[in-house]
Amino acid sequence: MTTATRSMASHPRLPRWLLFAVALLLVSGRGSCDVDPLDCGDDEDNDGIVSTPGVPVCSSTDRNALLRFKASISSDPNKVLQNWQASRLNCCDWTGVTCDGATSRVVRLKLPNQNLKGRLDAGLSGLSYLQVLNLDNNDFMGSIPASFGGFARLQRLCLSNIPSLSGPIPESFGSLKSLQLMDLRSNSLTGPLPSSFGMMSNLRNIHLYGNKISGAIPPSFGLLSQVYNCDLSNNRFSGPIPDAFAFGLKSLAFLFLNDNEITGLPKDMRNLTRLQWIDLSNNPLMTGDSVQGIATAPLISQIEMSSCKISGPFPAWASRLPNPSFTLLSDEVTPSLNLANNAISGSIPSALGKLTYLEGLSLQNNHLTGPIPTEFAKLQRLQRFNVSYNQLSGKIPQVSPFTTFDKSAYQPGNPGLCGLPLTPCK
Ligand SMILES: *[C@@H]1O[C@H](CO)[C@@H](O)[C@H](O)[C@H]1NC(C)=O
Ligand SMILES: *[C@@H]1O[C@H](CO)[C@@H](O)[C@H](O)[C@H]1NC(C)=O
Repeated sequence: MTTATRSMASHPRLPRWLLFAVALLLVSGRGSCDVDPLDCGDDEDNDGIVSTPGVPVCSSTDRNALLRFKASISSDPNKVLQNWQASRLNCCDWTGVTCDGATSRVVRLKLPNQNLKGRLDAGLSGLSYLQVLNLDNNDFMGSIPASFGGFARLQRLCLSNIPSLSGPIPESFGSLKSLQLMDLRSNSLTGPLPSSFGMMSNLRNIHLYGNKISGAIPPSFGLLSQVYNCDLSNNRFSGPIPDAFAFGLKSLAFLFLNDNEITGLPKDMRNLTRLQWIDLSNNPLMTGDSVQGIATAPLISQIEMSSCKISGPFPAWASRLPNPSFTLLSDEVTPSLNLANNAISGSIPSALGKLTYLEGLSLQNNHLTGPIPTEFAKLQRLQRFNVSYNQLSGKIPQVSPFTTFDKSAYQPGNPGLCGLPLTPCK
């Protein structure tokens, strides 16, 4: 994802179909290692490590660390560890192991999708030259050993889809100064994030989706100036995002916080100069006002806040949203505002008609009354629009695209609406 985005930003004349394809990938695979050039690298040639030529001979330190790891595995149905034998001295030839030709040290350990059962042995951190650890999609039990914070050279940590991997992210992770990719999604991690989280100063992609991590986001998070893509969704994060979060995340483009118990955003988000897409859906304790800082993020163009139990009048910040002059960065996302499935009452502000970049506007399932503002006729880029299940009345703007949306964009609900595509006004 990172490279795709950066290269798009620097090649403004890429054909639109390509941008569209990339955008699709981003949408369908958000947070997925598969479409992310900074990924866990199931393909050895594709993980960014340049091995120096030479015939590596395993160091005994590394061999011992690997044998300890093997000893803690209780089941290896695919027999991938069969050639991991003390008698086969050159561990650089063992399945899943790659050494660097110049140092002869183990730089990669990759055994994803092997149904390995057992514990993650603390002794694995003896692989002090390790750059990539990929044990995705296995059956380890227990927690991540604190000693894993000792991987000083580790760039990619891929421990996703390990359903019984539990316990907290260790405080020692603050020492992972080389880490660029942390993929711990779809595990059973708990506890709060360690206060040292922001010390992983090279982090670019964070995938913590689908765990049970709780508590507040630590203020140190705001120090992660390289983070581009951050997916904390489907956890139990609670409370407001600290103001310090908005201090230094100057590379952050995508922020997924949906399905948590977040109650608000920093008031001033001006420093989040690249933030384009924020998903706060399904945070049931949020209020309309507690997220007003979103309107200060200069490039924000895709906002999702459905199912947040927001009540009262239409959030005032929506009328203050920036109308970003079109940079290519914005082509990666679907510029849209999604406030569906809340309890917003009163009228739709006509100021939304200024947001001419919008391609999606989802307001269904609220308590909105009054007309669809005539200013909406300016929203010529709209492709998805939905105001059904409200109590709107009056004439639908009789211009395309409003006349061509499916009737289900307007009704059920809104018995007082008239004009195409509904029945003519009396
Ligand atoms: C924005 O960043 C600057 C330093 O680059 C800092 O002085 C300022 O306090 C930050 N503002 C906020 C609201 O975090
Ligand atoms: C509008 O939203 C309603 C309720 O979620 C849904 O049933 C309907 O299919 C949507 N229509 C369009 C055109 O998006």
